[in-house]
Parts: sequence; structure tokens; C-alpha cells
Amino acid sequence: MCGIVGAVAERNVVEILLEGLQRLEYRGYDSAGVALLTRDGELTRMRRTGKVKELADAISTEEALGSTGIAHTRWATHGGVTEANAHPHFSSDRIAVVHNGIIENYETLRADLTEKGYTFTSDTDTETIAHTINEAMKTTDSLLTAVQESVKTFHGAYGTVIMDKADPSRVVVARSGSPLVIGLGLGENFIASDQLALLPVTRRFIFLEEGDVAEITRRKVSIFDKDGNAVTREIIESNVEHDAGDKGGYRHYMLKEIHEQPVVVRNALQHRLTDTGLAADVFGKGADAIFENVKHVQIVACGTSYHAGMTARYWLEQYANVSCNVEIASEFRYRKSVVYPNSLLITISQSGETADTLAALRLAKELGYMASLTICNVPGSSLVRESDLAYMTRAGAEIGVASTKAFTTQLTAFLMLTLALGKQNGMSDEDASSIVSALHSLPAKLEETLAITQGIEDLAEEFADKNHSLFLGRGDQYPIAMEGALKLKEISYIHAEAYASGELKHGPLALIDDEMPVIVVAPNNELLEKLKSNVEEVRARGGIMYVFADKKAPFSGDSTMRVISVPTCEAPIAPIVYTIPLQLLSYYVALIKGTDVDQPRNLAKSVTVE
Ligand code: F6R
Repeated sequence: MCGIVGAVAERNVVEILLEGLQRLEYRGYDSAGVALLTRDGELTRMRRTGKVKELADAISTEEALGSTGIAHTRWATHGGVTEANAHPHFSSDRIAVVHNGIIENYETLRADLTEKGYTFTSDTDTETIAHTINEAMKTTDSLLTAVQESVKTFHGAYGTVIMDKADPSRVVVARSGSPLVIGLGLGENFIASDQLALLPVTRRFIFLEEGDVAEITRRKVSIFDKDGNAVTREIIESNVEHDAGDKGGYRHYMLKEIHEQPVVVRNALQHRLTDTGLAADVFGKGADAIFENVKHVQIVACGTSYHAGMTARYWLEQYANVSCNVEIASEFRYRKSVVYPNSLLITISQSGETADTLAALRLAKELGYMASLTICNVPGSSLVRESDLAYMTRAGAEIGVASTKAFTTQLTAFLMLTLALGKQNGMSDEDASSIVSALHSLPAKLEETLAITQGIEDLAEEFADKNHSLFLGRGDQYPIAMEGALKLKEISYIHAEAYASGELKHGPLALIDDEMPVIVVAPNNELLEKLKSNVEEVRARGGIMYVFADKKAPFSGDSTMRVISVPTCEAPIAPIVYTIPLQLLSYYVALIKGTDVDQPRNLAKSVTVE
């Protein structure tokens, strides 16, 4: 989704802005632009559809110069992918604006501004920001005051950065619903929508809060809350790796991130999982005391994170005796729901900025949940800051749009949460020690599973010319089948559906033929016999199957069924282990099809708009 970078410095900021944009490319975008302001007040702008590289090439030939600048990668919402719609947007060649989010009342604003004589040169909602601020400048000399007044008229979400040609010494920024982080340098300061963009220039960050407006000069940062009061926000020293954006020798970020899973899961367990259970307050300060009273859990998330929640429900009810509902955030936020007594609200998110999940958390606060916990990968993100309790998944920066290591670290978190809540709700000692021992074995088991790559590459060859596929699983492997299907659709564009295999005969069996490969996730558990009957149902209808089965499970392949052996593992971690071959399958199918693995078409990494 859209990305913002800005800088106020002594030096020429062009390279900083372009590198920042490049570091945000992973979020997904379709055009890019930059506006530069020299100390003498000369304002220039370059915009291009397509990749940042095209913008960079155009800029180098034009010898761009500016000590103050703003830059943007756009993911089209209002108006098509054209140069005219790319940011920055100008008003009267004086005010320059970049914006993430959506101004929902832009039509009304646009009509008012047109009546006042402004001419629109784009179809975007963002251009209304530029003209509104320009109009406000008629009654004040201060860009800060003009922005503070203007934002009162905006409905919707914005993270926006504004420059005024008349004053090259500053930018003004405003945040409501779309994240912004200020980067503090020495005699220079920066702004971005994601700290990753600024890691080459600073490690000291201030995360703006909802409603904040800030004025940034080379030497000073002044922040005001939504009521206009001057406020001080904490400075955070980032420990995110500088080279998180490096592919580390792998062909794609996604493959690198798949292979990082044993390491990041090990990190996630470190100092949290002891020999016999969990360290104190693994889920945040005061968490254990809150957990004593939890009788019900409501999980809310989107996409892959939602699948982690779906898996968690099986674990929480089976092992921890805690009832659990799981819902997609975009549904939860717009329906009336009933809050059970002693309910804990859990949000799950890689980015911590997903608009629907954030809105669900804010709604839940009004509904009377006893507390909120977020399981999140980005420290300082909106969900982390706005939740009562926060657990960091420690997956490291995830650059590939298709989520992989974030998912398995989310599942790792949920197994630990099962232990924590189970302790308060009569979990048997046997279940507790089996989860602890399974978790200890998990990093090594993931390594072992990654070694089955060769078999999967061969399978991918057979798969790549298919247009449809069906993923089947039972019990806690059903959400893993859903996640496998999502990965395949996302990066290979093959239509994939997942079913709980018991549902086959209630409809999807009608689809089976030799053009519809069926992927079966078959660990050696108590549901294996049931699953085998489902496999026979498919075989009897001429279906072609690919079965990911425990090494010891009694499956033998033939011309209609290829069996891929997965290392034997303890039952609680099986959903995490079986995720790996499905990720690899999607990756290799996409590779054969030649799609853009890390930035699949139409998708964005962090979905900060509805
Ligand atoms: C799929 C994927 C998305 C995200 C979803 C939620 O590979 O990445 O489905 O899982 O957009 O994002 P987060 O977890 O950042 O809230």
C-alpha cells in the first residue's frame, strides 16, 4: 500500500527519498513521485507510473536538487494509475502534499473548492488536501496552523506530509488512521510511513499518535495532539536490522523468509519458553493477572493472520478449555456482536496497521471486553500502542507480500497462549508437558521439513498448468489448508479453495476431475482414518491427489496419488510444520509461472485502508 518519505536537511535529500521509496516497494504500489524544494524556494516535481526505478532514472537525468522534499509510492484507490494521479499533488504550484489513506468526504470538499475557484488536475481524494490547505493559508502565515485547521474538515484516514514553497525550512505532517514515524537525525529530520524507509539515515524514531500534527525543521520537531496541545512523544531507539531489505542470497524475499522460519521461531521462544512451561508475563506486563479471569477469547484478524486465529481456536478449546470465537475484522467491525463475560479480545497482525483490524480493536473497547491483547510483528505499530497487552512475534521485517514467517510465529505465540490460559483453566499436566516438549522441538522440526524442497519442486512442475485446485484438511489442519490455498492464489494466481474434508460430499465433490488437483494435508493424528475415507471419495471420482502425509502414515502413492512425506512431529505443532510444504509449493508454482512472487499483482503488504 502507499508509502511516504520526507526529509528536511542541509544536504540534497533526493537520494535519501529515493532509497526510502525503494525500501517501501515491498508494500505494493503502482506509481511513484517526489517533490523537492531548494533553500531558494524552487519547487520541482517528478512522477512516474510503474517502479521506483523508473522515477529514479528520470530524476538522475534531470539533476534534481532539494534540501527539503517529500516522496510517495501510490497504490491507486481514487483515480486510475496515471502520472496525473501520482503524488505529490500541488495546489497553485505552492503547496505540495503526499498522502496515505482515504479522505472519505472528498467529493463534498472537491465541490466546495471548485466553487472557490480551484482547478483539479487529478481524480484523487488527495488533491483536496492540497487545495484545502492552500485555502487555509489565506488567513494565516503558518503552515502548521493551516494544516491544524484543515484536518478538522477531513473525514477518513490520513497520514500526510505537506510542504510550502514559501517556506523551505519545514514540513508539516498529520496522522489520523495511517501511520507516520518521525526519524531524528543530526541537524536533519525525516518522516516516513514505515521506519524501514529511514533506517539508512537514523535509528531514533518518534511514532506519531492518532490526531497528532507535527512541524519538522532541520533542528526541531514540535508535536501537537488532536486538541492542539504541545505534547512530547517518546523517542524509540530501533533495533530493526538495517539490512532487513536484503535478499541474503535468495532469489526472492519470500524464499528467504520461508527459510528464516526455524531461526525466527527459535527467537520467538527464547526467554519465553522454559524447560517446564512459560516465563512470567510472556504476553505483556500484567498479562498473567488478567489471564486469571479470562473465560472466553474473541479473535479478530484479516487474511493469513485470520488463519492463525482459526488454528488457535482448535488449540484453545482442545487444550486450554477456553471457549473461542474467531472473526474476520471487516465483518466484526460492522455487525452487532454479543460480548461474553470475561472475554479477552485478541487481534493478530503482521503489520499492526491493518485498517479493519485496528477499527475492530477500537470498536471492542466500546463494547466492554475485559482487556485487549495484540499478537503483532511490528513494534510501535498502531495495534501495539492501542492494545492493553502486546506480544511481539519477533519474525523480523517481512518484505514478501505473501505472509510466511509472520504466520508461523503467530502460531507459535498461540501455542504459548494456550499454555498460559490453560494453566488458569484446568489444562491437564499431560497436555501442558506435551505442548512444552513440542514447542522445544519446533525449530529443529521446521529445519527438517524445509529439507523436503526437492520433492515439492517436482510437484510444482505438474501443478503449474492447472487453473483450479482444492485444498483439504481436518481439525486444526483445516485452517492450514485455507492458508495453503490463500498462498497459492496470491502468488501463482491459480484459483484455490480450501474445504474441511468432511464437507466434500456436501458439494465440492462435484468439481473433481483430473484437471482439478486436490492437495491433502494428512498428519498422523486421530482424524487420519476419516481423512483416508475422504481421499477414497476423491480417488473414486477420478481426482488427482497430492498428499502431504506423515512419514509413518500408511499412504502409498500410485498414478492418481502422489505422497510427499513430511517429518513426524508431535501433534500440537503439526499445523506449523505442515504450513512449510504448502508455502514451498506456492513458491515453486509461482516461480514456474513467472509471476512477481514478492509483489503479486493487485496486492499490498500493509492494508491501511478499508
Ligand atoms: C497473505 C497476507 C494477507 C495479510 C492480511 C493481514 O499472505 O499477507 O492476507 O495476512 O492483509 O495483514 P496483517 O497481518 O498485517 O494485519
